[in-house]
Amino acid sequence: MKMKSKLTILLAFLLIAGNAFAELVRVDTPSSSLIIQADKGKKLRHLYYGTRISDADAANLKAAGAASLNAYPDYGVDPSGEPAIAVVHADGNMTLDLVVDAVSSRKEDNADVKVITLRDSHYPFTVDVCYRTSPAHEIIETWTEISHSEKKPVRLNRFASGYLPIRCGNVWISSFYGSWANEAQVEAEPLTHGMKVIKDRDGVRNAASARSEVVFSLDGRPAENSGRVIGAALCYSGNYRLVVDASPDKNYHHFLAGIDETQSSYNLRPKELFTTPVLAISYTDKGLGELSRSFHRWGRDTRILHTDRLRDVLLNSWEGVYFNIKEPEMDQMMADIASMGGELFVMDDGWFGVKYPRDHDRQGLGDWTVDTRKLPGGIPGLLDAARRHGVKFGIWIEPEMVNVGSELYEKHPEYVIKAPNRDLTYGRGKTQMVLDLSNPKVQDIVFTVVDTLLTKYPEIAYIKWDANMPVRNHGSQYLSADNQSHLFIDYHRGLAKTLDRIRDKYPDVIIQACASGGARVNYGILPWFDEFWTSDNTDALQRIYIQWGTSYFYPAIAMASHISAVPNHQTGRTMNLKFRTDVAMSGRLGMEIQPRNMTEDERQQCRRAIEEYKSKIRPIVQHGDLYRLLSPYDRMGAASLMYASPEKDQAVFFWWKTESFCHKQYPRVKMAGLDPDRTYKVSEMNRIDAVPLAFEGKSFSGRYLMDNGLEMPVSHNAPNADEWASRVLLLSAE
Ligand code: GLA
Repeated sequence: MKMKSKLTILLAFLLIAGNAFAELVRVDTPSSSLIIQADKGKKLRHLYYGTRISDADAANLKAAGAASLNAYPDYGVDPSGEPAIAVVHADGNMTLDLVVDAVSSRKEDNADVKVITLRDSHYPFTVDVCYRTSPAHEIIETWTEISHSEKKPVRLNRFASGYLPIRCGNVWISSFYGSWANEAQVEAEPLTHGMKVIKDRDGVRNAASARSEVVFSLDGRPAENSGRVIGAALCYSGNYRLVVDASPDKNYHHFLAGIDETQSSYNLRPKELFTTPVLAISYTDKGLGELSRSFHRWGRDTRILHTDRLRDVLLNSWEGVYFNIKEPEMDQMMADIASMGGELFVMDDGWFGVKYPRDHDRQGLGDWTVDTRKLPGGIPGLLDAARRHGVKFGIWIEPEMVNVGSELYEKHPEYVIKAPNRDLTYGRGKTQMVLDLSNPKVQDIVFTVVDTLLTKYPEIAYIKWDANMPVRNHGSQYLSADNQSHLFIDYHRGLAKTLDRIRDKYPDVIIQACASGGARVNYGILPWFDEFWTSDNTDALQRIYIQWGTSYFYPAIAMASHISAVPNHQTGRTMNLKFRTDVAMSGRLGMEIQPRNMTEDERQQCRRAIEEYKSKIRPIVQHGDLYRLLSPYDRMGAASLMYASPEKDQAVFFWWKTESFCHKQYPRVKMAGLDPDRTYKVSEMNRIDAVPLAFEGKSFSGRYLMDNGLEMPVSHNAPNADEWASRVLLLSAE
């Protein structure tokens, strides 16, 4: 069977090479197939996306009733549907008639890329529709490359990365809405007729509001372990738009994803290549959980840096001291995190500014020089202290931004984003502005911020890269009047160029993508980064919901999750330290607190938690497979998930109470991801109860744990434990 399909592929390649037409193009992952029909001189037709199928079945797709829809809908000759691409030609003609011209394929490292070249039947206008797959992943990456050789620029009004028809039925869509401190809230709803648009137009960041990922559940209400699902993630750092349009006269919902073209039409010069961002899609018939694991594996292997390394346990200074950065406090925080077993200290905002010291959020951005009033020993002094305490050192920057009160803005007012004839418009602190990264001189400035720090102080191990303002006052003082609509796109090209330069020179430094919390959780920005700050909201209870939504597409290794003080600084809620620790340990563990204000008991508890995290569960959480067991969004009073090592010899189970009512009945949670035929010994981590749990040290078969689970006591028998019970169990195969 395998042999036969290899022969067919070979035959198809020979046909392609011989310039005859290849009829069916297969884009396969190990367990899914996307089949498109590419007949020379005809429209490119989407026939199938689903479970991997044989060549024989692929050949009969049309007979079976495949819709045969235009696989990259072009606007003009048939203008009724939602187009993936719409242009105005140099002569004013608004139509496209794209037909298949060629099919080719190439190897890229471990990946296969198939390219279908579409050419307009009249104009010298070309779109390459590209698909990339690799044998190790269940993800298809699709994007387009647009070019022409008309006499003058062609105006691109629509330029989606990809199109996918979704057969109508009991289809549900899951999406992730949010806002500052409430990111990634899961919303699942049936897909009905009409348009559903998910978008973000922040300009700079794009993930605080709706996220650029969706899941289609094709068999009704989304389920973790069953049902056919398609996941889609637009990998782009700027404004995006995901559209689902249910056509009234056909059996299909039409899904389009790409850069949001609103106020972003693009004048494409002759011979210039316009490459749209990657749309990553994945299909499985095993439900949401399997879909997430596919995205996690692909994300870890291809889209997030340094995932082969385990992440350090860190203390970040923000909630501990805010802007009150001072040498003795930095020293004390380093000593404290070291004494609790942490490995890295990160100095947040407030360390810079000479003429305009960064004592608050109203000035200083742009002037990345140490404030020696606060830090007389400068960065060398801090690095000395870090060395002395045996921790690594990291630093916060926000290099895309500037305040009115800054030497940079005094010298270069022309570097900020601003429309002519309009007053300045400010963001944070009512004085912040965005630097215009479409301008190569600004790109140099941003590069130099990092370059200077890392050249002078190569010991800096970690950078927290923040971005706290959207584009306002749409206008570039650099771009020509004709190309003002390029600003949103050129900003992100400038950012990408700058990050490329940084990564070429500094491949090893760990960089966190932060943007007012989780506003840069996106696979379009992550390729230059190691992790993201999941949310400015560090309240453990709300974090369960935020991290749950984030986990649909992003793996725990990238999800920074910190233990913070009570009452929580965002919600005012007080929860016991065990609960806060147990939530933070389900991601990339860190602390966001002034340790000086903790009691000795609390420090001891954290010391134990950090020790257990590092010695027992860090590789399972950071490299393992996620199984979501009980969703907080189901409002059953508790939430639960677990990670299992790829070999299934180790797993860690998390359970948190999310509601606390007297005599409430909480569901018993079945485990998942274990080997049914192995036996696992159970031991509780972060135990605070005086008496161990009944199953402590006992062994159970994977089958029993997955069929029945263990009964979780819903409260703690311990001092200082409030109603917010939680459990972390380590399962070790015997
Ligand atoms: C943003 C970040 C915070 C912190 C502050 C500093 O809000 O999300 O974590 O770094 O900026 O000003």
